[in-house]
Amino acid sequence: MITHFSHLQLNTVSVQGVKQFYHGQLRFPIVYESDNEIRFQPTEYFTLSFKETAESLAPAHFAFEVPYSEFENIVNWLQSAGGVTLLKWPDGRIVDDFETGMNVYFRDGDGNLLEIITHHYINEGILTPFGELKILYLREIGFPVDSVIDFRKLLVDIFNFKLDKISDTFTFAIGGTSHAVIPSKKRKWIPIAMTALPPTMKVVFGVSSSDFMEKVKTNLSTKSIHFDEFKEHGRLNFRINEYDFNLRLTNFPEEIPMLLNLPYSR
Ligand SMILES: [Fe+2]
Repeated sequence: MITHFSHLQLNTVSVQGVKQFYHGQLRFPIVYESDNEIRFQPTEYFTLSFKETAESLAPAHFAFEVPYSEFENIVNWLQSAGGVTLLKWPDGRIVDDFETGMNVYFRDGDGNLLEIITHHYINEGILTPFGELKILYLREIGFPVDSVIDFRKLLVDIFNFKLDKISDTFTFAIGGTSHAVIPSKKRKWIPIAMTALPPTMKVVFGVSSSDFMEKVKTNLSTKSIHFDEFKEHGRLNFRINEYDFNLRLTNFPEEIPMLLNLPYSR
């Protein structure tokens, strides 16, 4: 199965700017740094990297899950020590209190739309909260597409993902702790009605077994999607629509999503 988001690579126009925000403000540890690339370690099982390019940027959307019991402290920390400006909804509120949890949004210097989200049903004590933001895992990455229906079907057919909040213009496609957020390019990102453009990005999913990797290869072949395999590194690379995907065998325990009490892990 797909267990989690293992890595997200985005483009930037300034590695220095990215460093000031993610390391200076959010305090993410740096695990690699060069003139044109920087990689952060927001949790034990997830890395976030930025590559400097001379291309225009389309902002990405991604969301970190944090413990429910810590949410208020984290929001306070973000605004005080973090020095982050949280985004407002049209009615002026900052925290959205929805049926199963709460969230807040903010942007980095490149305009990427970040979110801190929590759900009351997530069991605490399963994953160790990481860093000042007490992050449990990267929950969401946004994939704006022309056809939500076609893209989600591909993710179900290839990865055996489960679907939630299904409509013609929006869907969550879920594997383990990873939630691919699939909005239509015509549907704007909340809470600031930000146009949903497809960012240039590489998304690496963690996979629990080489058996699953083989199944994905068969599914890709059935759909005539080209892939490159790097067996010695336990990796599989391919492209769906405008997005680069990468599967990687990792040591993320397969039972974590179930132990966390994620609704689609049972
Ligand atoms: Fe989100």
